[in-house]
Amino acid sequence: MPKLEISRRSLIGGMGAVPLAGLAWRQAEAQTAPTRKWSVPYGAAVRGGSLTEDADYRATLAAYCDHLVSEGGLKWFDLRPTRDRFDFSEGDRYLAFARANGMTFRGHTLVWHGALPPWAEAIDNAVVAEREMIRHIETVVGHYRGRIANWDVVNEAIADDPQTAPGLRDSLWLRRIGPRYVALALRAAAQADPGAKLIINDYDIEFIGDRYKRKREAFLRLIRSLRADNVPLHGVGLQGHLSDNQIDQAGLTAFVNEIKAMGLEFMVTELDVVDNKMPGPPDMRDMVAAARVHDFLGAIFAAMKPSAVLTWGITDKYSWVPIYFKRGDGLPNRPLPFDVQYKPKPMMQVIEHFCR
Ligand code: XIL
Repeated sequence: MPKLEISRRSLIGGMGAVPLAGLAWRQAEAQTAPTRKWSVPYGAAVRGGSLTEDADYRATLAAYCDHLVSEGGLKWFDLRPTRDRFDFSEGDRYLAFARANGMTFRGHTLVWHGALPPWAEAIDNAVVAEREMIRHIETVVGHYRGRIANWDVVNEAIADDPQTAPGLRDSLWLRRIGPRYVALALRAAAQADPGAKLIINDYDIEFIGDRYKRKREAFLRLIRSLRADNVPLHGVGLQGHLSDNQIDQAGLTAFVNEIKAMGLEFMVTELDVVDNKMPGPPDMRDMVAAARVHDFLGAIFAAMKPSAVLTWGITDKYSWVPIYFKRGDGLPNRPLPFDVQYKPKPMMQVIEHFCR
């Protein structure tokens, strides 16, 4: 791995003509040695446009993160504009930026109900669905073999309100292939890169309420059945899109304890605070958000240290939250650890408290 790191870096250094966007990203490549900055690795999701245009953004990522993941770029919609074309350009640039700054890059995500291009949404039979899913995993994991060491193989497989077993989400993959798509995907990923850590990732299991409890149970049921069938699986990701909902601390600790007892890793993959229903005044809102993150991380750390904590973005300047959860009072959302001026917020202090 370190050897690869060096050769990749000299490759970047040796690139001749690069497009403007590539140049901006290159300037941020501080050539730092890959040193771990945290005792529990911290990371963030990145966006291409911002990485190109905003030097403070690049500097903050480089200063704080052990890991990067991308919001897009490795989703089907970006990677496969047509059935037979795989476009790795965006993913390759994120990976190069991460590696040049001594960070690792995790892959998000191979199999998801969302971000499918129209040609994939239109797949109407089991044979083609299975063939395309496997071809996708083989090609993408194969392309990054030995360079992306950690993959969200299956994302959001569990239904939002699972009433009966197995409680999987109604998705193209479930409709066309059936419940075995999860195991098929994990097996294909393990074959394409036997060295990669394979994660299944989900959300909405950490809150108080019956719906969340049912989702937690369905997620555990899926994980247990994969283990019983000897399906390659190394860890469980919890996204952690928190909100005004209270955290079920006992329920979350019990869940993580179950994961630990199975010998699996547990990681927080997309932490942020969806603050559209939280109090308006920014200082107060930041305190409520930090308290929520404290309850969340506290419940997890009470069971075990996660293998990483990643936030879904790093600055309030760039986040999916204002796009999907705009506030009714017109005040800007404040979902992430740094504000729009790159000043650390109380949420960052909480992350420091647990992860430094
Ligand atoms: C979101 C991105 O942040 C947006 O930019 C995009 O438009 C839609 O997807 N759970 C996930 C992520 O697993 O992939 C989602 O990311 C946020 C919710």
